[in-house]
Amino acid sequence: MTDLFGGNEPRQSAHQTIAPGAMLLRGFALDDQRALLDGIDRIATAAPFRRMQTPGGHVMSVAMTNCGGAGWVTDRRGYRYSPTDPETGRPWPAMPDAFLTLARAATALAGYADFRPDACLINRYAPGARMSLHQDRDERDMTRPIVSVSLGLPATFQFGGLKRGDPVAKYALLHGDCVVWGGPSRLCWHGVLTLKDGDHPATGRLRLNLTFRGAM
Ligand code: SIN
Ligand code: FE2
Repeated sequence: MTDLFGGNEPRQSAHQTIAPGAMLLRGFALDDQRALLDGIDRIATAAPFRRMQTPGGHVMSVAMTNCGGAGWVTDRRGYRYSPTDPETGRPWPAMPDAFLTLARAATALAGYADFRPDACLINRYAPGARMSLHQDRDERDMTRPIVSVSLGLPATFQFGGLKRGDPVAKYALLHGDCVVWGGPSRLCWHGVLTLKDGDHPATGRLRLNLTFRGAM
């Protein structure tokens, strides 16, 4: 697996519509990988990755931090966006220009003009971590799309329909791949299967994911 998806060999970029309003942009973030990984390092220095609690009291297997004007948080009180990091009481680190430029380019390519994300959730998956099927529905205005950027170890992304029980399609998300969903697919159920172990030249034994949203 990791030899095939090592990330050092150039990959052809290609765009695929995976649902109405949803596109998978293969390799779209590859040129920005250095800026993205450096940005994540700087953000995590100021706002360390942490495993948050769900309202039901489970500790999430994915470690998270945020940058931008609002950050997604969860605890026993519920899911929400917060302008400050509850761990430090300080505002989340600013969203680096390279993050914003990439999110805007990906959404423009997918047909969403002038997306201005104010929130970037950074998900860190170690082997064994997963994200169960969910909808992104804590944002104020559902007319704005979502952009997800994958770095490091490959993961299996599940993308379903508007109803929880709808069939899900599976896509291997590789280093540099981006997914944009919005419009008719904005509330589609999605998730990430348990991350398999591996060693990626860019991230080691990790997968990193950036999820951009218009939250507030
Ligand atoms: C998410 O749905 O917030 C994360 C998706 C991913 O890690 O690819
Ligand atoms: Fe999500």
